[in-house]
Amino acid sequence: MDEYEKLLLQNKGWAKDRLDLDPNYFNRLADIQMPNFLWIGCSDSRVPANEITDTQPGEIFVHRNVANLVVSTDLNMLSVLKYAVEVLKVKHIIVSGHYGCGGVKASLTNNHYGMLNKWLRHIKDVYRLHAKELDAILDQEKRVDRLVELNIIEGVYNLAKTSIVQKAWANGNAPSLHGSVYSLKNGIMNHLITVDSNSYLDPIYRFDFKGGLED
Ligand code: CO
Repeated sequence: MDEYEKLLLQNKGWAKDRLDLDPNYFNRLADIQMPNFLWIGCSDSRVPANEITDTQPGEIFVHRNVANLVVSTDLNMLSVLKYAVEVLKVKHIIVSGHYGCGGVKASLTNNHYGMLNKWLRHIKDVYRLHAKELDAILDQEKRVDRLVELNIIEGVYNLAKTSIVQKAWANGNAPSLHGSVYSLKNGIMNHLITVDSNSYLDPIYRFDFKGGLED
């Protein structure tokens, strides 16, 4: 039996276990999803959103990419964001990174990764913004981990810079934006920052919506 067949079997076992515990489990979930959270996390297989937050299917709307980036021209992320904010009306958006992130580590080298260079470039830009602080950290692992944190914080501000979030705020709606960092060593997710409609945002990034509310 190959790995994929094993996965399908495990799925059947899981579905049976759920039904044994609660015969209505899938009936309830099939109706509607009304999650309170949008999770923007790293694709790393060791950081599954539901598992580390002890939440159930239906509780977190999830978008993951390499190094949990929030890139203003990423149609995939923007589509998820728009649906989460305007249709699901999530109350919280969490940019969740993790220490020891391979994408962040790679961005601090001069290695050529082909197409991945274009993605990692965004992390190099975060490094350049905070080069003074980062260059003062001599230990390479600690420097990577601080860049992990700064990349999360910049990601949170990148969300605040979108017209999708600003429009929701202008209408008096959620979401609050949070940044958190997860440790693979102890399983703990630590809070880094919260940004909401009252937080300071450099005025150059503030839209006035007098010209209309389109994206
Ligand atoms: Co990662």
